[in-house]
Amino acid sequence: MPVPGGEVVKNDLHFVERMQRLVFDHRLDRHSFVIAVGGGAMLDAVGLVAATSHRGLRLIRVPTTVLAQNDSGVGVKNAVNLYEVKNFCGTFAPPFAVLNDADFIAMLPPRERIAGMAEAVKVALIRDADFFLWLERHADDLVLSEPAAMAWMIRRCAELHMRQIAQGGDPFETGSARPLDFGHWAAHKLEALTRHHLRHGEAVAIGIALDARYSVLAGLLAPGEELRIAALLEHLGFRLYHPALTQRQGGDGPLAVLAGLREFREHLGGELTVTLLAGIGRGIEVHAMDEALVAAAIAWLQDRSAAP
Ligand SMILES: NC(=O)c1ccc[n+]([C@@H]2O[C@H](COP(=O)([O-])OP(=O)(O)OC[C@H]3O[C@@H](n4cnc5c(N)ncnc54)[C@H](O)[C@@H]3O)[C@@H](O)[C@H]2O)c1
Ligand SMILES: [Zn+2]
Repeated sequence: MPVPGGEVVKNDLHFVERMQRLVFDHRLDRHSFVIAVGGGAMLDAVGLVAATSHRGLRLIRVPTTVLAQNDSGVGVKNAVNLYEVKNFCGTFAPPFAVLNDADFIAMLPPRERIAGMAEAVKVALIRDADFFLWLERHADDLVLSEPAAMAWMIRRCAELHMRQIAQGGDPFETGSARPLDFGHWAAHKLEALTRHHLRHGEAVAIGIALDARYSVLAGLLAPGEELRIAALLEHLGFRLYHPALTQRQGGDGPLAVLAGLREFREHLGGELTVTLLAGIGRGIEVHAMDEALVAAAIAWLQDRSAAP
């Protein structure tokens, strides 16, 4: 059954109902396999259908984007958007299997290929300094989508995500931390503010640069490291400033992106927990962010983008 790709399939429950109907009509049961072939958005929607039909059919994911192969496809979450809240309606359900096929990556439009690399930079920064060095050294190959480099980048990134889920002690996120969501509080808000004109990975790249600069301003990260991080992201093809960053609520109110902090906390409940950087390869959790320093970090990104 073909379904639309991208956020469209997550934005309307009609697609979920149609897929659920297909499961019903074909009398699939808990021993049946649902095979989903597509990007992260489509996998999220089909995952919800598989997890809830008869309380759970077996799901095989075949991710077809960089982001889905190195991050979302190897995770345990699924969801669709409701009441204009991203991922409001979903469950945790590990897939039966995930099949990553490099041929899909070769078919991807360049913009999607670049976008997914933000998650590799993200997980390298919080977990694996050697991987960050590798990304720096192979940035040219990655820009050219050299197959061996792409394959290794995807494999290492997926491994680091899976390790967190398997060994991090909280696979179903019952606490207040989202340890893999470095750079994501701003990213999710930027996606919404731009009505998804920014791809998830593009917003994550901006969120990473913002939180890296913030980490320096907050005295957590050595000055200069944020320049390295920004340089790698730019080398890979990301733009690290978007006008939505300086948009103000009601025109002259607080920065609109700051609402992302509240929404980030509300998604899990409990205490605000944001991952920042104590070094390259070393994430650190904080429970408050200084709005003036966030504004200063945004001004830094804006100045950089204006520099010749
Ligand atoms: N469940 C999780 O843990 C998790 C984690 C991170 C992100 N996500 C979700 O993943 C989604 C983003 O996923 P994405 O970045 O894969 O983008 P996407 O699913 O929106 O796909 C992007 C576009 O590429 C197209 N496409 C997919 N594969 C293609 C191919 N091989 N060749 C040509 N075109 C192709 C799609 O049809 C779509 O138009 C978001 O909804 C995000 O919330 C989920
Ligand atoms: Zn992400």
